[in-house]
Formats: sequence, C-alpha cells, structure tokens
Amino acid sequence: SSERDHDLRVDIVENIEEDYGMFVWPCSVILAEYVWQQRPRFSRSRVVELGAGTSLPGLVAAKVGAHVTLTDIAHNTEVLDNIQQICSLNNANCTVLGLTWGDWDEPVFDLHPDIILGADVLYDSASKLLIYSSWLAFLSLWLRHVSNMPLHLFW
Ligand SMILES: C[S@@+](CC[C@H](N)C(=O)[O-])C[C@H]1O[C@@H](n2cnc3c(N)ncnc32)[C@H](O)[C@@H]1O
Repeated sequence: SSERDHDLRVDIVENIEEDYGMFVWPCSVILAEYVWQQRPRFSRSRVVELGAGTSLPGLVAAKVGAHVTLTDIAHNTEVLDNIQQICSLNNANCTVLGLTWGDWDEPVFDLHPDIILGADVLYDSASKLLIYSSWLAFLSLWLRHVSNMPLHLFW
C-alpha cells in the first residue's frame, strides 16, 4: 500500500458467506472516513477497536500514526486470524486481541485507550448491554490513571 497526505489505501480480505466479522459493514466505511478526516487527532493516540471484524477504521487509525489494538470475540479464531492477515497485508503494526464484551482478561487492563472505536456493534439489545459494560470498564480504568476521559466513537 502507499499513502501520502491526501491518499490512503487499505486492502481488506472479506468472505461474505461467513461470520458477521468476516466482511465490511457499511458503518465501518463511515467510521473509517471519519478517522481519516480527523487524522491529526488520531496520530500517536492509543486506539482500541471493539468488534473490529475486518477492522477498516482501526487500520486507517494505524495508518495515520495511532497505536492500535484490534479486538473481536475471544473464541472466534477465524475472525482474529483474518484480522492478523489484513494487518500483514497492509503492513500495519497493530495488536490483535480476543476481547469478548463483558469478559475481562488480564491484557485488557493494560490497554488504557485514548479512543475507543466501534462500527456496527450496537445491533442487538443483549450485546448492547455487554458492550456498554466493556466501555464503562475502560472508562473507569482510565479515570484511575488520568483526569482526561477517552473519546468513544460508535457508528
Ligand atoms: C456487525 S459486525 C461489525 C464488524 C465491523 N466492525 C464492521 O463494521 O465491519 C459485529 C462485530 O462484532 C463482533 N462481536 C459480536 N458479538 C461480540 C461480543 N460479544 N464480543 C466481542 N465482539 C463481538 C462480531 O464478531 C463482528 O466482528
């Protein structure tokens, strides 16, 4: 891939017959566009994407200089392996982590994100409660460390 100040390319591997997390949902295109428009804000920030799937917004954040952790359901190795493959394809140095909403494993406590991204992750009411619990946990962890609150962007 090649990019200049006004030009960015991200390649995605999709499989539309598979899991929800194996193809690009429309919200992620809009969120990725927002990240690109707001790139000075993302540069050098710590970003966590929840329910990243094919990870378009997180990859754009990585391309503009953020330290990015891409997460999806911990037991879904197909989606997590695909995220890893997409990172390699784009020379993006992101961390890929299994993070099931509402579940708290040790690595999550070290993330301390400045920005939390989520595209098309509020689509069913049961998941909504769990994702809010992940989001609130990040918030409370963050508040223990600094007075600034992380920015949350959900589309
Ligand atoms: C509708 S897809 C959106 C994928 C991607 N963000 C996009 O917009 O293209 C929902 C994503 O949330 C993930 N997901 C669903 N339930 C989850 C849970 N309980 N914990 C973590 N991720 C979950 C799915 O694996 C999938 O990647």
